[in-house]
Amino acid sequence: VARGDEGRSPRALTAELAAIVGTDHVLTDPDLVAGYVVDWTGRFRGHTPAVVRPKDAPEVAAVLAWCRQEGVALVPQGGNTGLVGGGVPLAGEVVLSLRRLDAVAVDQIAGQATAHAGVTIGALQRAASDGGWSYPVDLGSRDSATVGGTVATNAGGLRVLRYGPTRAQLLGVEAVLGTGATISHLGGLQKDNTGYDLAGLLCGSEGTLGIVTAARVRLVPPPRDVAVALLAFDGAADSVAGALALRRTLPALSAAELMLGDGMTLVCEVTGVAPPFAGSGRPLRSAAYVLVEAEADEDAAGALGDAVAQLPGVRDVAVATDPRRATELWRYREAHTQAINSLGAPHKLDVTLPAAQLAPFVDEVPAVVARAAPDATTWLFGHIADGNVHVNITGVAPGDLRVDDAVFRFVAELGGSISAEHGIGTAKRPWLHLNRSQGELDTFRRLKAALDPDGVLNPGVLLPPLR
Ligand code: FAD
Ligand code: MLT
Ligand code: ZN
Repeated sequence: VARGDEGRSPRALTAELAAIVGTDHVLTDPDLVAGYVVDWTGRFRGHTPAVVRPKDAPEVAAVLAWCRQEGVALVPQGGNTGLVGGGVPLAGEVVLSLRRLDAVAVDQIAGQATAHAGVTIGALQRAASDGGWSYPVDLGSRDSATVGGTVATNAGGLRVLRYGPTRAQLLGVEAVLGTGATISHLGGLQKDNTGYDLAGLLCGSEGTLGIVTAARVRLVPPPRDVAVALLAFDGAADSVAGALALRRTLPALSAAELMLGDGMTLVCEVTGVAPPFAGSGRPLRSAAYVLVEAEADEDAAGALGDAVAQLPGVRDVAVATDPRRATELWRYREAHTQAINSLGAPHKLDVTLPAAQLAPFVDEVPAVVARAAPDATTWLFGHIADGNVHVNITGVAPGDLRVDDAVFRFVAELGGSISAEHGIGTAKRPWLHLNRSQGELDTFRRLKAALDPDGVLNPGVLLPPLR
């Protein structure tokens, strides 16, 4: 097992890494390193002897070769927006920042892009749009999260129900494996049944098998007409039922996002944005909301309006008639992450449930949390049409795992998954066995041993320690 920084002279380590990437690209100054050692939420904080910033795949391969030779562990890092403590050096690992690999090229004829690991999702979306196409993965962290990070975590986001997660966009990757081999499959053939799907394997492997240096992704035609509406319901059960029904009654559905009254109230307080439906006389706190988006060739608003009119339980509807209003409605949803974080580092438990268990889960999980930690507060929101609920818990110390344990066991009892889209990281490792059999975990370990034989890549991530 590779070690972190213990036992090696920091000066020797820095000099040897600088010989590969240049002195300017080995950061050791605490002020410069600070943003790389703590995660976005502030829950996971580590330390590192150095942040290394290679410029291309050969430099990545050279840094990895040095780490293997010296037995030094490393943590690959993109935008550092991951939410499961997988991208920060909790055991003193070297941080390998991929942000300098920031080239992107759109193939307009194929409707594909080759994006290097450090390209942000926002930059990829803009490049696709400039080329007349659209990159369909979208998430609130778009201006920081990178192509490498989203491939490594198989990021989901706001339009999975229409376009699938990152893995569904992936046609191939270039990567440096833990064996030292650089593999490259960026030709972009739409159909290519020539053996193991290495891109699919690396996608979601959270930096434990290889370092993704570039990806070939499919693009989609930009939607011609988009409509957005905010629906208010009396309670969570009605809102969940409504969102699930829209998947059938509104074929143009591209997003359906759940918010509850207390989250909406917090967002309005923190952002200063006016609450929705202020004149309705209905109390904000007891309501539940679904943000609905439809994409169509024409009259998306008409299709959305017809489907909503048939939906039982809808108490109020706010329709965006222009892009500015659509952005305002989306803001209620996207601001949840920031607003909850303003209360202190939350425990972020991103889970999926079978459709039939979603409403009972949303109803019961606050009580499950309260039994585990009476002082905790539970916040629920998420990509409800995917069955994906973000259970955020505040008022619990970062290392107090009682609520995590209670919620994950409840999820498993209901047949759900402890990670819908954020990954396992270091945060969920102890509970991976709730979703994966011994046979699967053994297979994971064999893959890890084959592709990272020296155990230098993210040794603290994903795989639970052997009991
Ligand atoms: P990092 O955080 O840097 O790393 C994440 C993991 O990938 C780590 O394990 C790291 O070691 C590994 N890694 C990073 N780069 C590479 C590489 N090149 N090769 C190999 N391994 C690598 N996630 C969603 O799925 N859906 C959402 O809707 C969503 N919304 C978000 C909104 C906000 C405001 C925030 C802060 C986060 C959100 N996230 C969401 C989580 C996060 O943005 C994603 O997990 C994203 O994929 C992380 O990308 P990153 O570049 O920041 O990766
Ligand atoms: C989201 O859907 O907003 C993201 O997954 C981030 C979060 O869970 O806070
Ligand atoms: Zn999400």
